[in-house]
Amino acid sequence: MIQKSPQHPYVLVVEDDRDQRRLLEAGLGQQGFRVTAVRDCRSALHRLTLEKFDVVVSDLNLPGMRGDELLRLIRNVDKTLPFIMLTGENDVDVAVRAVRDGADEYLMKPASVGKVVQHILSAMDRRRRSTDKDRKLRDADMAQLKAFMSGVQALVNSLETKDEYTRNHSKKVAQIALMMAQRLPGMDKRQLREIRVGALLHDIGKIGIPLTILHKEGKLDEDEWEAVKKHTIYGARILEPLAKDYPLVQAIVRHEHERWDGGGYPDGLAGTDIPLGSRLIMIADTYDAICSTRPYRKAQSREFALKVIQEGSGTQFDPGLVPVFEQTYHEFPCPV
Ligand SMILES: [Fe+2]
Repeated sequence: MIQKSPQHPYVLVVEDDRDQRRLLEAGLGQQGFRVTAVRDCRSALHRLTLEKFDVVVSDLNLPGMRGDELLRLIRNVDKTLPFIMLTGENDVDVAVRAVRDGADEYLMKPASVGKVVQHILSAMDRRRRSTDKDRKLRDADMAQLKAFMSGVQALVNSLETKDEYTRNHSKKVAQIALMMAQRLPGMDKRQLREIRVGALLHDIGKIGIPLTILHKEGKLDEDEWEAVKKHTIYGARILEPLAKDYPLVQAIVRHEHERWDGGGYPDGLAGTDIPLGSRLIMIADTYDAICSTRPYRKAQSREFALKVIQEGSGTQFDPGLVPVFEQTYHEFPCPV
């Protein structure tokens, strides 16, 4: 019997066979588990929205929705909830597939309560260990990124002293790119973090551009313009140490001046070949440039920035991202 404690595991049993369901409910209860037993997947999904379970034990062949379909729906929203599949003898192939699709264990019916308990405990233990491992990896990952970022911060600071305009510009571009990225479906934490870091560092390569060019008022000649364009390549080179663990950050910085129609630099990438983070920066950078005061002109309104970005949709800017900008731009900083 497992130790009874205020946190004793809560099991959701999904079984259409009444005798089997009652047997599991009573047997698991006697072993110290809290149990809710339902007869079909619809009721199971309902219970899952109401309560937090520690493990699901489900029959495979259920009337209406099957156990493997229930597993699929659960995995869409919860990758770690332990799931044990009960199956009849002829369902082994499906059960093996279910394990591949995210079930922790499968058990042939009829399964004794003792066997079910054993499988529940081993599934929960395995999940706990892999969650601990994930957390440790995540922590190590974050520590490494932080260490690198503090090194890069020194570079950002020296760039900001070199070029007044860049001060706060990178921060604002990162804020705008992140706010837009958060509106996109299917973005995970790591992608959002890489986009934010990429945007923060997008102009870091300007540290390699001579001050006389960076601060020149008026039009740049062809050679000067070619020199400025190199900041994307310098940026990617500075971020080389990040390439192994964060290849996206480096790619975002290299391609932040690529245009949707392929007319940008340094590689003339087009459409979705351009990293998403770079396409977001293209919009955020333009917005912030328009809304900032420069030596040769005053800041302009966010409505004017909107017009410029709408006009460039499909040529300079990703037409799929412009509607996201339209929905969010009123939240972005603009002094006018
Ligand atoms: Fe740039």
